Parts: sequence; C-alpha cells; structure tokens
Amino acid sequence: MSPGTGAALRLLAATLDAKSVAEIGTGTGVSGTYLLQGMRSDGVLTTVDTEPDRQQVARHAFRAAGFAGNRARFIPGGALDVLPRLADGGYDLVFCDGDRLESLEYLAESLRLLRPGGLVCFEGVFANGRTVDSSAQPAEVLRVRELLRAVRESQELQSTLLPVGDGLLCAVRRG
Ligand SMILES: C[S@@+](CC[C@H](N)C(=O)[O-])C[C@H]1O[C@@H](n2cnc3c(N)ncnc32)[C@H](O)[C@@H]1O
Repeated sequence: MSPGTGAALRLLAATLDAKSVAEIGTGTGVSGTYLLQGMRSDGVLTTVDTEPDRQQVARHAFRAAGFAGNRARFIPGGALDVLPRLADGGYDLVFCDGDRLESLEYLAESLRLLRPGGLVCFEGVFANGRTVDSSAQPAEVLRVRELLRAVRESQELQSTLLPVGDGLLCAVRRG
C-alpha cells in the first residue's frame, strides 16, 4: 500500500471518528496501522485474513507502533466465512483489500455491516491501469469493473474514486 493511500485511509477513519473498523486482508498490518492511527483512541480494528502467519506479523507491527493489544481483533479465515458472523450495522468503516474476485460479495457484506453514514473503501481498483485497458483482462479485473459499476449505480451509496496509490474506491452508505 502506498503512503498516499495509507494517509487517505487514516484521514477517513479520523473524519468518521471511527470506533469500529472491519478490514478484509490484514496482510502484514500496513493498512491496519494507518487505520488505527486515524481511529478513536478506544477504537477497535477487526481484521480478517486467510493467513494466520501474516496476522502474526501484523500483531507485532501494531505493538511496535504503540497500539495496545485490545485495539485489534484478529480473525483468521476466509472473508466470506467470517463477515456473516460480524454484527449488522456495527461498523463505521469497512476496508476491503482481500481477493478481488470476491469484490461484489464484499460490497454486499459491507452494506450490511456499515451503520448509516459509514464508509466502505476498496484498495487497488485501478489494478495497475488494467481496469480501463480495453484489451483482454483476467477475471479479477472484470470483477473490479463490475464492482465500480455496482457502486456507481447503487441508490444506497454516495461514492468517489480517490486517485491515490493504485486507486481507492470510497462509498458512504446513505442514512
Ligand atoms: C494485498 S494483501 C493485504 C495487505 C494489507 N492490507 C496491508 O496493507 O498490509 C491481501 C491479503 O488478503 C488476504 N486474502 C486473500 N484472500 C482472502 C480471503 N478470501 N479472505 C480473507 N483474506 C484474504 C491475503 O492472505 C493477503 O494477506
């Protein structure tokens, strides 16, 4: 994740005064660190990844950045197995950085998880320029195009695509 994308996420979390954030794709904790920096000091990041080893790296990264252990809840597993277990309307922000093939499912789950006025963000929607490249593209890029269309056409969302890093799609769930 680029520093610009991280700074944008941090700003958005701070603007929302986010207390509860869900993240799909913990990775090594780069995005999570920015999110935690922007959230309220008592906010909790719930972060999901199929790879427990990466979550261990992220756990150390959060600690090294000075965050108490109770600021992050690590859930190992596939997003589509874990997200249905999270509370309806319980999140201020959902950050999606998992499997692009599952983008539309992440959007549907995010609409359920977000409180009215909450924000969903998708990282990497430019797909290194392939989203707008008219030559043949792999399924994951086609899925990102479908995501962009679905967000743009949704009556429930107000959206914009921030041109930071590899493209950060942001959409607010209307009240
Ligand atoms: C681009 S990396 C995330 C990077 C992370 N946000 C960061 O800034 O450090 C994508 C992550 O999504 C995880 N992932 C892939 N498919 C997933 C799925 N179906 N459910 C949950 N996590 C998944 C991968 O294991 C990988 O750690």
